[in-house]
Formats: sequence, structure tokens, C-alpha cells
Amino acid sequence: MKQRIRDLFEKANLAPSRKAPFLSRRYPYGGARRMHSALGPDLAAPTTWRAADTPPAGELGAIFMHTGGANKWLHYLPVYEANIDRSQPIRMLELGVFRGGSLRMWREYLHPQSVIVGIDIDPNCKQFEDPEHNVHVRIGGQQDATFLQEVNSEFGPFDVILDDGSHMTSHMVESFRNLFASALAEPGAYIVEDVHSNYWKPYRDSSMSFVDFVAVLVDAMHAHYPDAESEVNFRTDDPARLREVSVPRITPKLDGIEIHDSIVVVRKASRDLPRSVYQ
Ligand SMILES: C[S@@+](CC[C@H](N)C(=O)[O-])C[C@H]1O[C@@H](n2cnc3c(N)ncnc32)[C@H](O)[C@@H]1O
Repeated sequence: MKQRIRDLFEKANLAPSRKAPFLSRRYPYGGARRMHSALGPDLAAPTTWRAADTPPAGELGAIFMHTGGANKWLHYLPVYEANIDRSQPIRMLELGVFRGGSLRMWREYLHPQSVIVGIDIDPNCKQFEDPEHNVHVRIGGQQDATFLQEVNSEFGPFDVILDDGSHMTSHMVESFRNLFASALAEPGAYIVEDVHSNYWKPYRDSSMSFVDFVAVLVDAMHAHYPDAESEVNFRTDDPARLREVSVPRITPKLDGIEIHDSIVVVRKASRDLPRSVYQ
């Protein structure tokens, strides 16, 4: 009987849990079955993917090895290099300090006048603060909006915000909601790493995972299209041109969303993006 109930849950893509939420979707995107059928037989055909022991590359790779102790997957390093400007001083906020490894790595990688701020719920992390070298640590929870506001008033706005904190789905979404509009500079990059944790039960404390939330951001980036019928609504001299549309506040700020294996970069525009024109 128990097995039959389990099978039914499995079929419905639900994972029963002893902790709230008592039922959550096992796969954020709607289930392996749905993924396979959407991919079609060719793209869904099984293939073997082998582990490779490739050493970290590039200048950040060398700094990563040399400073030691940062808790990062190696394939994140090129994503950081492509999205974080080290040619000029920036302000960076990292959620999650742990043993201070990444703070040391950023200190060495970024422009020497950059300000690096780490937050962590663990008071022991305060020991990794080094104000003389512009490395600051504040203690508090990434889900605490008041605390985040205080950190922003003290050090923000930030050119880069990196979420490497609890990896709990509710915290990842909540921190983004609390930081993107008010604490991220324009332009700015909001980076969330370890989103693979969304697929692991201990980290699923909300029905909407961060991966689900990214799909919402994709819709928000296109929020001016559903009210239109075709490209004539965006043509400069067309009588059907939509002069104004009502969109969520975030829409004109969304300059792009980059999704890599386990790491997502949401780019904020330098000012409200002009609406696109069709010619
Ligand atoms: C993966 S480690 C950070 C690693 C570090 N960024 C690095 O690369 O070396 C995650 C850290 O998040 C902290 N943490 C856990 N829950 C948190 C929360 N709710 N708010 C802020 N930090 C939290 C933990 O104490 C831990 O130090």
C-alpha cells in the first residue's frame, strides 16, 4: 500500500516530506518525465558523461589555487571572469563567508581599491574581516530584509552580489527579492551559485525553487509582449504602435539572464532599457 502511495507521488512529481512544505515538487522544472517528453527522443536519448579532472584555468584559477580554501566549483571561475570587472574598483557583496576562502580570493583578484563585504549567519566568520584591506564581514541572515538593508546602507549599492549562502530555496528567492532593486548598482550583476541544491531535498523548503524563479524572471523580461499581437505594435510609425505598456518594475531593468550549470547571472541594466523597436 505504502509503495503504491509512493508511486502515485512519484508519478505526480511530488516528494513527501516530514518538514514543511509537506509536499514539494521533486524536479523544479516539472519532472523528469516532462523534461524527456519536451526534449523529444533524439535529445533525450541517454548518453554517458564522464568525470574529468581538469585543473582550474585562467588568472582566477591561479588565484583560487594560490589563496586556497574558497568553496567553489571550478566551472564557476570562467563565469566570474566574464561577469566581474577587475579593471576598476567595484563593490562586491557575497552572501556566505564560511572560512573566508572566497574573501581572500576576491581580495587578490579584484582591483585593490574594491570593497568586499561578506555576510554570514555564523558569528565566527567575523574573524575573516580585514577592514584595512577593505574586506568587511557582517553577521546576520540572508533572509533578514532589515539586516540586508543595513548592510546596503553601510556599504552599497554593490556592483556584484553573489549568493553563496544557505542555498535554501526560500532564502535564495527572498534574498534576490530584497537585494536586486535596492542594493544592486546599475549596471550590476546578481550571481547565484550552487543552484543544483534546488534538486536536493534538504534544500527545498519552498514550493518555488530558485530555478523556478529564474523561469519567472524569463517571463518578466518578456512582460511587454503578451499584451501585443505582433511586431506592428513595436514598429516606429505604425498606428498600432504601443506607446506605453504596463510591466513589472523589474522588466526594464533586466538586461539578460545567463544560466549555466549550477550558476545563474542576472544582469541589471545601467538605466531603464529603452523598449525595443521593430523595423
Ligand atoms: C558554501 S558556504 C560559503 C563559502 C564561501 N562563500 C566560499 O566560497 O569560501 C555557506 C555559508 O553560508 C552560511 N549561511 C548559512 N545559512 C545562512 C543564512 N541564512 N544567511 C547567511 N549565511 C548563511 C554558512 O554559515 C556558511 O558559512
